[in-house]
Amino acid sequence: MAKHLVCKISELPPGARKIVEVEGRSIGVFNIKNSLYALRNSCPHQGAPLCLGKVKGTMKSSKPHTYEYVMDEQVLVCPWHCWEFDITNGRSVFNPHKMRVKTYEVTLEAEEDPSIETYEVTLEKGLVMVHV
Ligand code: FES
Repeated sequence: MAKHLVCKISELPPGARKIVEVEGRSIGVFNIKNSLYALRNSCPHQGAPLCLGKVKGTMKSSKPHTYEYVMDEQVLVCPWHCWEFDITNGRSVFNPHKMRVKTYEVTLEAEEDPSIETYEVTLEKGLVMVHV
């Protein structure tokens, strides 16, 4: 699996999203409370640009007449027919075992600072050697 640059983390603060094209696929990258997630920007229902949808929570009922607001900022709502998906795993909120959108791994990597010179260091027979 190849790595592709999306952006600097400063361009993707909590609550933000970025939609990118990678190898012919449209992918939405989301920062949800400082955790990063990526989903295919295509709804499994009829192919809407899912990652353009609203991000919110959802209501859950554990018993009759009792509701609680859960998954705050974790639910992506399809802009065409309002199907809801859990951004953290791509699964449908309504039917998580049968319906899901493709997810991708996201990593946050340190940006190299070109103003800092680094040198190779090796350990040879108990001696630390720097290569300049
Ligand atoms: S295309 Fe997404 S819910 Fe219909």
